[in-house]
Amino acid sequence: MTSSLFSPQVSTVLEHIAFEQQRVDEIEQPKLLEKIRRRATPWTPEELVAACAGGYYAAPAAIGRMLYTCVRAIRPQTVFEFGTSYGFTAIHIAAALRDNGSGTLYTVDLHAGKCAAARDNLKAAGLDEHAEVVTGEAVDVMSSFSLPIDFLYLDGWADFYLDVLRAAEPRLRSGALVHADDTEKFAAAARPYLDHVRDPANGYVSLGITDGQGLELSTYTGPSEQDAS
Ligand SMILES: C[S@@+](CC[C@H](N)C(=O)[O-])C[C@H]1O[C@@H](n2cnc3c(N)ncnc32)[C@H](O)[C@@H]1O
Repeated sequence: MTSSLFSPQVSTVLEHIAFEQQRVDEIEQPKLLEKIRRRATPWTPEELVAACAGGYYAAPAAIGRMLYTCVRAIRPQTVFEFGTSYGFTAIHIAAALRDNGSGTLYTVDLHAGKCAAARDNLKAAGLDEHAEVVTGEAVDVMSSFSLPIDFLYLDGWADFYLDVLRAAEPRLRSGALVHADDTEKFAAAARPYLDHVRDPANGYVSLGITDGQGLELSTYTGPSEQDAS
């Protein structure tokens, strides 16, 4: 069987997002990095989401492929993504869930317009049955999320990774994968998160991949309230 990723319906949407991201972020990304550089005080989620509202900031294609292969291999029932944007990574995850024959992606973004665009893109790719796009602040959404999580993918802003992870911990299955993107690109913001997952006392086995942006791959090995579910 050929992967859904290579079907014309899915690949056309992915190519469109990648094209638009290059066109838009060439202009938007330098503006955002300058705003971050000038900022002396911590951001609220609303301020940071507003600051990046004009851009796509989709993950590189290689990260999309990695997510697809991980989801095919571990066959998760529940994947939670922090940071939907226009749905580039969500489409890769949803395609893998469809090819697995089961599982649902919950993907959260605070920007209502991006959520609407991601829903349209998932529908255009024929993958909307496999993904639920939730509009809201990630820590809030995670705090009221009730399903056991097999795979947590963090690709919002690194400032909030640790808060999202802490809110997720009661829901993580033992052996759950936890991946965090942009941990080198936003190294200062990611520091508290990296300190947490790299301390074995917190129940993770973790390593950093240097791909130009930084990707932290962790497995939760601690006790889980979810294993009986
Ligand atoms: C790097 S982009 C996500 C890219 C996406 N995974 C992809 O590859 O297409 C980060 C997204 O996180 C969202 N975001 C940042 N902080 C958030 C928060 N605290 N709660 C919810 N969404 C947030 C932003 O609105 C933005 O769309």
